[in-house]
Amino acid sequence: MRILVTGGTGFIGSHTCVELLNNHFEVIIIDNLSNSSATVVADIETITNKKVVFYEGDVCDKQLLEKIFNQHQIDGVIHFAGYKAVGESVQLPLKYYNNNLMSTTTLLEVMQQFNCTKIVFSSSATVYGEPHANPITEDFPLKTTNPYGSTKLYCEQILKDFQFANPEFSVAVLRYFNPIGAHCSGLIGENPKDIPNNLMPYIMKVAAKQLPQLSVFGNDYPTVDGSGVRDYIHVVDLAIGHIKALQFLKSTTGFHPFNLGTGNGVSVLQLVELFKKVNQVDVPYQIVARRSGDVATNYANAEKANRLLGWKAEKTVEDMCRDAWNYMKNHSN
Ligand code: NAD
Ligand code: UFG
Repeated sequence: MRILVTGGTGFIGSHTCVELLNNHFEVIIIDNLSNSSATVVADIETITNKKVVFYEGDVCDKQLLEKIFNQHQIDGVIHFAGYKAVGESVQLPLKYYNNNLMSTTTLLEVMQQFNCTKIVFSSSATVYGEPHANPITEDFPLKTTNPYGSTKLYCEQILKDFQFANPEFSVAVLRYFNPIGAHCSGLIGENPKDIPNNLMPYIMKVAAKQLPQLSVFGNDYPTVDGSGVRDYIHVVDLAIGHIKALQFLKSTTGFHPFNLGTGNGVSVLQLVELFKKVNQVDVPYQIVARRSGDVATNYANAEKANRLLGWKAEKTVEDMCRDAWNYMKNHSN
């Protein structure tokens, strides 16, 4: 199968391209490099010893998409491209609505035009808002607390309505929990240019002495040690989930949401301690007030993905800490 990967030079996209190539898929990437670098293409090729076709461009550019679909017989699409910073989405909601929604509708129009009927979409556990219980199953009520989350929820709805109107389509919506870690080669991973919003990139910048200390947002939640609990998942496990989803879509139609998580909750303080122990580095931190909009606890029931996709996260939190730091050591400059 030949797969178009939008946002394929980004964090999750690049790891998924590696798994696709390792599983004998052909890969075409479109990415506008708004949050990634073209050097990632060469890194993917080095890891896999295979070639990818790369288009630098925007998924909202319908003419470019038509050109790509004209030049290649595309069997399926994985749609990662989008903006993802929660805080920025509150400040600049239209930037998020424009990019995340328009890229999805443009892509669907062109897929329909070229009779390409299989799509895997990057959604997020953010669509569950503050869950009434844990672990979270796919049938929990959907609600969001910020514009970024709303774009994910609206895209899911667009995909659902579109699939209903076009029953020959098959759609897998993958709701990721908290992806961290990196490829074991140390060549690809996550290294935000600005001050990170997310926990693991922040821990790494502190460990690398690029930032003085971590702020732990709250120690008074009703959790094991008072700090927030999340379901951290290794990005390579997550990437493999996309391959399983594509294989599932081959023999089915319909709209299929799946949680991709480990099913285990880990607190902020537990993650910091594990990172220090596994990598033998110091991570100074201070406890500060809760971050507005954060939930206490959020972890997945991923039984549906196990049952229907034959997928299960395999890697441990220790693997995530080791691989993330291995990547960071190579890229700290
Ligand atoms: P990322 O920013 O590393 O990757 C996204 C890629 O899309 C980037 O390379 C960026 O340059 C590209 N892009 C953005 N808009 C584009 C456009 N209009 N046209 C072409 N390219 C465009 O992010 P990521 O962490 O790899 O996330 C991938 C997807 O997964 C996103 O849709 C994100 O919302 C979703 N997601 C991420 C997380 C997470 O914690 N990383 C959690 C849940 C869901
Ligand atoms: N945290 C800190 N200090 C920091 C950063 C985070 O203590 O500097 C804490 C948070 O309060 C939270 C935990 O670490 O308890 C994880 O926070 P992240 O920002 O890493 O991740 P979130 O769970 O808040 O959100 C992430 C993505 C969302 C996505 C969601 C899916 O940022 O886009 O996971 O569950 F929707």
